[in-house]
Amino acid sequence: MFQRSVAKWAGLAMVAATMAGAVQAQAPAAGADPAAELKRGRLLYIQCRACHELKADQPHKVGPNLHGMLGRKAAAAEGFAYSAALKGANLTWDKATLDKWIEKPSAVVPGNAMAFAGVANPKDRAALIAYIEAESK
Ligand code: HEC
Repeated sequence: MFQRSVAKWAGLAMVAATMAGAVQAQAPAAGADPAAELKRGRLLYIQCRACHELKADQPHKVGPNLHGMLGRKAAAAEGFAYSAALKGANLTWDKATLDKWIEKPSAVVPGNAMAFAGVANPKDRAALIAYIEAESK
């Protein structure tokens, strides 16, 4: 009985560890295929989706809908109440600026209203940007 439950818990712990590692495990090697990177970006985007939709017909949430954001001026989505800091930042969302923003929003625009610490891993950011680019057109 005892051994059975130990085996059961060991099994559950393995499942949990596998789930936690799932995003990392799918990291494509350099030059890997774009489909894998998009899949990884989709998983990573779960942390953004809590606050941001990507498709044109979807509403703003805590954060603005990011549809069509690449190439556009910051704080330009219709009908979203941006912070004064972001409105005054005079940024355009090219990929380099978006990369810095995802790394640490507070470093790009101090006083902005996005309550998100940032994504430290450059490969994770690249996958996120690839996904956002593909999904927000
Ligand atoms: C807790 C909610 C929250 C999370 C999580 C979050 N954001 Fe935001 N985001 C916001 C808010 C709120 C703003 C508006 C900031 C302002 O007005 O200062 C914003 C603004 C932005 C903008 C600027 C949009 C524009 O129209 O100028 C981008 C780009 C962005 N977020 C990307 C992301 C990405 C990518 C992630 C995931 C890695 C993410 N955000 C995670 C809340 C969030």
